[in-house]
Amino acid sequence: MIIKYNKFINESADNNIKFIVEEQRFKLLVNNELASYCIFGKIDANNRFLKFKEEVIELHQVNTIEKYKRKGYAEILLKKIFDYIKNTIHINYAILKVFKSNIPAINLYNKLGFELKDSSDDENPIFLMYKKL
Ligand SMILES: CC(C)(COP(=O)(O)OP(=O)(O)OC[C@H]1O[C@@H](n2cnc3c(N)ncnc32)[C@H](O)[C@@H]1OP(=O)(O)O)[C@@H](O)C(=O)NCCC(=O)NCCS
Repeated sequence: MIIKYNKFINESADNNIKFIVEEQRFKLLVNNELASYCIFGKIDANNRFLKFKEEVIELHQVNTIEKYKRKGYAEILLKKIFDYIKNTIHINYAILKVFKSNIPAINLYNKLGFELKDSSDDENPIFLMYKKL
């Protein structure tokens, strides 16, 4: 299911940071330049692979532009997304898949309180992680 939200959010205490939700893309701008973004989409409750009994939002492609890495922007962006999913879309779980080799991303998700839901060990080993919002 495609979610269409064209909503501008600009509630940061730091005036240099802006958040934008466009269609299914969530962006964090620093001084009006794209620094970090994430794609999100709604997953139906009956998706067997994901084994969730209620609606969840899947996050894809969490990404910080090279020069903005390690400055806390992915963390700020994801916290904003959690708030948006819970209080605007009214969904209580976020999930994502991450390659087992992607240590920066796994550290990030652990820091934000994601838990392990499942894992696969085929040719592209991944963890499926979730967070109750
Ligand atoms: C993963 C990624 C989004 C992190 O973005 P970021 O803005 O640099 O992350 P932050 O500065 O907000 O870091 C938050 C936490 O993530 C973890 N982290 C981020 N980069 C890390 C690195 N290079 N090594 C280890 N841990 C890292 C740390 O726990 C960090 O907290 P800390 O600073 O208190 O140690 C970024 O490295 C990236 O774009 N990677 C390429 C795309 C990708 O793999 N996306 C994930 C797809 S599942």
